[in-house]
Amino acid sequence: MSVVAFVTNEPGVDRELSTELADHTIQVSSIALGPTASPMFIVESLPTGGDLVVVVAADIPADRALAVLEHIDRNRPTAATVLITDSDSALLRRAMAVGVRSVISPTASLEELADTVREVMAWLARRRQVLVGVDGDPERRVLSVLSAKGGTGKTTVASNVAIALATVAPGQVVLVDFDLQFGDVEYALRLKPEQTIADLGRARDRVDATSVKAFLTAHPSGVFALCAPSSPAESEDLSAVVLDRVIDLLASQFRYVVIDTAGGIDDASLVAMDHATDLLLMSSTDIPSVRALQKTVHALGSLGFADRNWHYILNRSDAKVGLTPDDVREAIGMPIDLAIPDTKAMTLAMNQGSPLIETDPRAAASKKLTTFVQRFIPEIQAEPIRKSAFSLRSSR
Ligand SMILES: Nc1ncnc2c1ncn2[C@@H]1O[C@H](COP(=O)(O)OP(=O)(O)O)[C@@H](O)[C@H]1O
Ligand SMILES: [Mg+2]
Repeated sequence: MSVVAFVTNEPGVDRELSTELADHTIQVSSIALGPTASPMFIVESLPTGGDLVVVVAADIPADRALAVLEHIDRNRPTAATVLITDSDSALLRRAMAVGVRSVISPTASLEELADTVREVMAWLARRRQVLVGVDGDPERRVLSVLSAKGGTGKTTVASNVAIALATVAPGQVVLVDFDLQFGDVEYALRLKPEQTIADLGRARDRVDATSVKAFLTAHPSGVFALCAPSSPAESEDLSAVVLDRVIDLLASQFRYVVIDTAGGIDDASLVAMDHATDLLLMSSTDIPSVRALQKTVHALGSLGFADRNWHYILNRSDAKVGLTPDDVREAIGMPIDLAIPDTKAMTLAMNQGSPLIETDPRAAASKKLTTFVQRFIPEIQAEPIRKSAFSLRSSR
């Protein structure tokens, strides 16, 4: 199902457009943006899953329209935006800078708007095919957990996220340890791997999509793990080409591939980024960690990863010795998608080889992780879009 979401305070045209489109695979709804509502509210109201076109109508004041477009660009980079405004407006140039896909005049007919929506939908479908591969399934996700430094909580998040996904898709989640030298997924999940990624690397030419499972270690939660080599020396044989093939194989077999990385930008993390549909970027609140992530975010943008879904995770968000979440948000230039409080039980869980989300699903950190993970699960529907209505004509 594709969705067109209208951001507007005026009644009626969502239904008119729906009639004009005459396409039952496209659902048209509208979201009102009252004068006191935060533009972030719009982002939170958007449905997840499926192709999404957001149309910002001409009745939304320019500054607020821009803020909405900016939030969507940052938080839902897979959505496409359409702005209804005059082509000579100052807003137009600024809207281009935040990635607006198409612009249409307030005097345009409904038919023209419908054509624009169809064009943008077709563009989304083409891009999705490029991203997931022609035979790919848009619901398949590769989640790469990255941070500029070690010790920020990547393994903690990767293992908890994998387990949360497995509650919805048991047997369809693989957790890959790309911290090739010192990976500890095996300890985080208390596994005793018989085969590791080193064995898979050595056997790569004989392995196909089915036999790859022999290299994985099953966890009772329904997660499969591909563990890191047992000695750091073994990781040397794992070239980027080999790692690339490993992820290709796994992505063809599993709905969710969660990749834990070593921190910093190494060959393995570059492969992880390359395959990622979703980048889970982590920092804690200390200045070195935030600075390093700032640089990473900048590098990722210039390396061409802007088209993936970016999620920013702030760990130990309540640490009293660091920056406040507001400071961090400002420094990184991204809203915080998940803030995890410092939780003693988290370390305890890790030491015992049983992630917190399993040992204490009611802990604040577990609840936050569970809510966060829902964004990767289209069958858990987002809250219904508020119905209101719309008109193309307006006075911006
Ligand atoms: N929110 C948290 N509260 C308390 N301890 C945490 C938290 N997140 C991570 N830890 C602990 O910090 C240590 C490092 O976390 P880890 O996930 O191994 O980091 P990384 O994989 O990025 O090196 C571990 O002992 C882990 O249990
Ligand atoms: Mg780790």
